[in-house]
Amino acid sequence: MNSLPSTDLVETLKSQGQQHLLAGWEQLDPAGRQYLVDTLAGFNWAELRGLYEKRAEPAKLPDLVDAQAPVVQLEEPDTALDALGSVALQRGRVAVVLVAGGQGSRLGSDLPKGCFPITPVTGKTLYQVHAEKVLALGKRHGVTPPLFIMTSPATDRPTRDFFSSHGHFGLDPDRVFYFQQGTMPAVDLATGKLLLEAPGKPFLAPDGHGGCLSALENQGHLAWMQDRGIRSVFYFQVDNPLVKVADPNFLGRHLRAESQASSKVVPKRSADEKVGVFVSMAGRCHLVEYSDLPREMAEQRLADGSLRFAAGSPAIHLFSVDFLRRVASGSGQGGLPFHIARKKVPHIDPGTGERVQPDRENALKFERFIFDALPQAERWLLVGVTHEGEFAPLKNSAGPDSPATVRLAQSRLAAAWLDRRNIRFPADERGNPLVPVEISPLVALGPDDLRGLQLPEPAEGKPYLLDDPDNL
Ligand code: UTP
Repeated sequence: MNSLPSTDLVETLKSQGQQHLLAGWEQLDPAGRQYLVDTLAGFNWAELRGLYEKRAEPAKLPDLVDAQAPVVQLEEPDTALDALGSVALQRGRVAVVLVAGGQGSRLGSDLPKGCFPITPVTGKTLYQVHAEKVLALGKRHGVTPPLFIMTSPATDRPTRDFFSSHGHFGLDPDRVFYFQQGTMPAVDLATGKLLLEAPGKPFLAPDGHGGCLSALENQGHLAWMQDRGIRSVFYFQVDNPLVKVADPNFLGRHLRAESQASSKVVPKRSADEKVGVFVSMAGRCHLVEYSDLPREMAEQRLADGSLRFAAGSPAIHLFSVDFLRRVASGSGQGGLPFHIARKKVPHIDPGTGERVQPDRENALKFERFIFDALPQAERWLLVGVTHEGEFAPLKNSAGPDSPATVRLAQSRLAAAWLDRRNIRFPADERGNPLVPVEISPLVALGPDDLRGLQLPEPAEGKPYLLDDPDNL
């Protein structure tokens, strides 16, 4: 690597007002210079400028005048649908995509969120719970769906190491694929200049869960799926241990409707709950973020007093592979727009080299969201489920959506399944079991799987655990 940056590079940076990115060039070793040159070459300057110019515009809100509450099917048991989904799994027509590239800043753990111990009795991690659900699907249907895990620069190495040091939790390592999402530079709010994390290192942040689309496409995974006859992708997020991974009933509904994009729905619990809601507009499905839903719409009620716009999103989707490829090849990077967020981003001052720890929002970050793909589906469907049955995300270190509430949600669900087998636990006035209760995904993925098993009686005051299918 030359001792000076190329004239082309200097000219490009000058024309973009970004020469400061070369600050400290002399102190960089050849590898550091190469890294900087390669990183800068990957930026789309016109796009970054365009995004920066939009900073002052009020977020373009969707025109919700014609928004309707969408039709939501209920997730009722149906043997014909279950069979349809099961056959798709048996024939290897389904892949599972787990997005785990987030920084988990609210939880505040150093490791990827997937490495967080979360089950109430044995403390299994989120990654283990998800991997065991995939493994259990394979045991049941004879074919284990390939598991694609989206990581980011911060979570990639620790995620790979975690899976390999745990024997991939019993999964065939050749059926576990890691793919890294893209990144976007953070931009100074006041000047539009890219922020530096260190000399020669622009500050890069993962490009949002919607980044999975371009990453899957550009890294050849969607083509790989198509070549192997995989037609459906089950998408979910790492933070929810209650998720029913690729459950046959959901798959059956998706396949029967020839849907391109199907989503699970949880009822919004109050008008001001911070959850995105699905609406239907001109025959298409849109997800409106809670911050974009006008108050009067959020508060509208039906004659029975329930909320009109109550179809909340737990971020669980099924997509057809053809649909994902079509969206990925659409206009814009990865076919999905960027959302602009104001954040506090620590960085270095390129003039002095000093570290700056902002005390207020100083930067713009750019992220894409997977749900922006939904309006592109001509055929879509929504399936209503409950929080208790399928959705308890781990977001915060304390309070709502924290380790304590997520562990309790797992105990409650396990106790509800066991109740059907007449195994009961003392509970508090809200129905929460007083002891932790845990059922391994390898024992049961739902209450029906407990039929015919020899279940031990609970011992008073002791945690209850069904962990080993061979001992029941
Ligand atoms: P969240 O938006 O809840 O973010 O991600 P987070 O990283 O888990 O937590 P905070 O906001 O920093 O506290 C929802 C899901 O999307 C994934 C996360 O890993 C999680 O599964 N995600 C988010 C990505 O894979 N990449 C991203 O760039 C952002």
